[in-house]
Amino acid sequence: AIRTEGGRRRSPVPAAVPFLKIIRKALSEEKRVSTKTSAADLVTETDHVVEALILQELQTRFPSHRFIAEEAAAAGAKCVLTPSPTWIVDPIDGTCNFVHRFPTVAVSIGFAVNQELEFGVIYHCTEERLYTGRRGQGAFCNGQRLRVSGETDLSKALVLTEIGPRRDPATLKLFLSNMERLLHAGAHGVRVIGSSTLALCHLAAGTADAYYQFGLHCWDLAAATVIIREAGGVVMDTSGGPLDLMSCRVVAAGTREMAVLIAQALQTINYGRDDER
Ligand code: IPD
Repeated sequence: AIRTEGGRRRSPVPAAVPFLKIIRKALSEEKRVSTKTSAADLVTETDHVVEALILQELQTRFPSHRFIAEEAAAAGAKCVLTPSPTWIVDPIDGTCNFVHRFPTVAVSIGFAVNQELEFGVIYHCTEERLYTGRRGQGAFCNGQRLRVSGETDLSKALVLTEIGPRRDPATLKLFLSNMERLLHAGAHGVRVIGSSTLALCHLAAGTADAYYQFGLHCWDLAAATVIIREAGGVVMDTSGGPLDLMSCRVVAAGTREMAVLIAQALQTINYGRDDER
């Protein structure tokens, strides 16, 4: 929350945004939980309710636009990024945290035109932090400009990652071996906080030096990519090439040197593509 001169807390988002109230209330309550692609890929009724509210609002205001949204995709909607104006929505990022009442949960909304990311908004629901980024106009958290760290040395880096939904032995072996490689290279630490978007916001804020993941989706990445780039950071493919939003993998860092070092250390875990499901 932002503190006003009188010392009162002022939320960075208007009180009229109803889904934030719904998420905060549901966080402390019992939830009905279902699974999607694996036993660790969770969804609750709140994910569905929040997604419906966001889409309803956006569709009313922008009837000609296209939408890619996590729970619609899980129900079979195609995720194809065309040149048309497209909103890319994750209603609750960190659903597993949400289920366990672990208070690291966000709403993420990105917007692309001509397949180029134009702006992104990520809201940390419990800490009331609103991260925003607009192409060419900077990145901010509750109005404070964001700036990535300038670290280039992997042996001085704090690295973030997320596990991804699969738990089969081959995937876990690769996941742990990637972590081990970075620790062998001397990284100060590798952290998993349970929300890709908020981990990426740490990178944008300079409170971590790098992020990588296999198994995330375009709705985890869209908004965060604009925010990181506008904070001066680099977002690329794990091969070291340009980011492909639909490829379910990413390396991001405060500096290109750091991103390349991480990309070179990683073994690929193939999660397929969002636009081929
Ligand atoms: C997931 C979380 C998780 C990450 C997954 C994401 P969701 O998003 O960010 O930490 O490992 O790859 O898809 O399902 O909570 O919206």
